[in-house]
Amino acid sequence: MPAVKSSNGPVAVTGASGYIGAHTVISLLQRGYEVRACVTDLSNPHKTDFLKRLNGRYEGSVTLHQANLLEAGSYDDIFAECSAVLHVGQPMGYAGNNNPQEVYDGSVGGIANITDSIDKAGTIKRLIYTSSFAAIGHPAAPGHKFTEGDWASDNREGDMHWNTDNLVNKGEVGYAMGKVACERHVNRAAEENGGYEAISVNPCVVLGPLLSPIHELKGSWQFFLGLMLAGKPCQRGWQALWNIVDVRDVGEAQARMIESDIPSNGTRYMLCATDDSGEITAQQLHEHLQELFPHIEVGGVLPEYEEMIQKYGKPYDAPRAHCDKVRNELGLKTYDVMDTLKSTGETMIDLKLVEPNLR
Ligand SMILES: NC(=O)c1ccc[n+]([C@@H]2O[C@H](COP(=O)([O-])OP(=O)(O)OC[C@H]3O[C@@H](n4cnc5c(N)ncnc54)[C@H](OP(=O)(O)O)[C@@H]3O)[C@@H](O)[C@H]2O)c1
Repeated sequence: MPAVKSSNGPVAVTGASGYIGAHTVISLLQRGYEVRACVTDLSNPHKTDFLKRLNGRYEGSVTLHQANLLEAGSYDDIFAECSAVLHVGQPMGYAGNNNPQEVYDGSVGGIANITDSIDKAGTIKRLIYTSSFAAIGHPAAPGHKFTEGDWASDNREGDMHWNTDNLVNKGEVGYAMGKVACERHVNRAAEENGGYEAISVNPCVVLGPLLSPIHELKGSWQFFLGLMLAGKPCQRGWQALWNIVDVRDVGEAQARMIESDIPSNGTRYMLCATDDSGEITAQQLHEHLQELFPHIEVGGVLPEYEEMIQKYGKPYDAPRAHCDKVRNELGLKTYDVMDTLKSTGETMIDLKLVEPNLR
């Protein structure tokens, strides 16, 4: 099936004002696409102004459109005449905005509205679905090297938590189950439609430049990195590894996914560490940040981290995963992890999201 070109018509991005969505918009603009950026609230300048300002800076152009995943038919007019849909947005749990049940219901309920609107448009050739590494990672021995062949639903026999009962009390399970269900849905919907292919992208720990203060996202990886620059210890993911990918690479990869002839319906691409240098412990994260920001007293590790090291010698050796497939098949050139950490911290300071703990 032919891939997409900018001359084929507009492309639509859901969640366009979000951290990953905005970088996806930029990658498409750089290629000359006419981008229909979907936001939930056109009257919120924090979510719209920075997107409007992208016009004139790149070959392509962006228009803003209001739509909500949870309303059937909301994307009908926006997707009309589009050649591709990049479905990035979904209700998230950041800052406690949605509980895990709402996250699950929003992702699974919303995806049907997306594929229904694609069916009605009849012009879409590619749907790129932003899934997550959460749809890949599953119970495995430490050091297990995850690939696109892994599913979060693997090795769950006897796991009493892996079901949709009482999701509100089960944290990440709702998010992961929602991502798995949505991937399965888009693959099935594309097959039934026959006119487009669905491809999923599975990012792990996404960091890199923030384009707007709204990208701070309380509870996100960047939020906790910002706290370290403010002198607080690493409080997220310290029991294991931060498997880091640059948000610019996630955006660029998604643009490549609509244009490449290589993927087909059901193809998945992990967006995660390029190599071992992108799989770091909380202690290494502290050391990297301290090297990059020598004038700041960067927060270290929690006492619980020290206790864990005394007991086990090192943090849990997971998740191990490299983005070889997207680099080999789509020619993605990834950012060095030090560049990613630096740009995250610098933009958070520039946007006044962090008051650095100066030395
Ligand atoms: N950040 C990561 O580390 C990471 C890792 C793996 C996967 N992901 C996935 O990447 C995607 C983007 O996440 P993000 O980190 O960039 O978070 P984000 O900045 O909060 O983006 C989420 C977007 O979803 C949109 N959204 C929320 N509820 C919606 C609704 N009812 N209808 C339509 N749009 C809605 C929001 O749009 P408005 O702003 O217009 O309300 C927002 O732009 C998500 O699917 C997430 O699961 C993120």
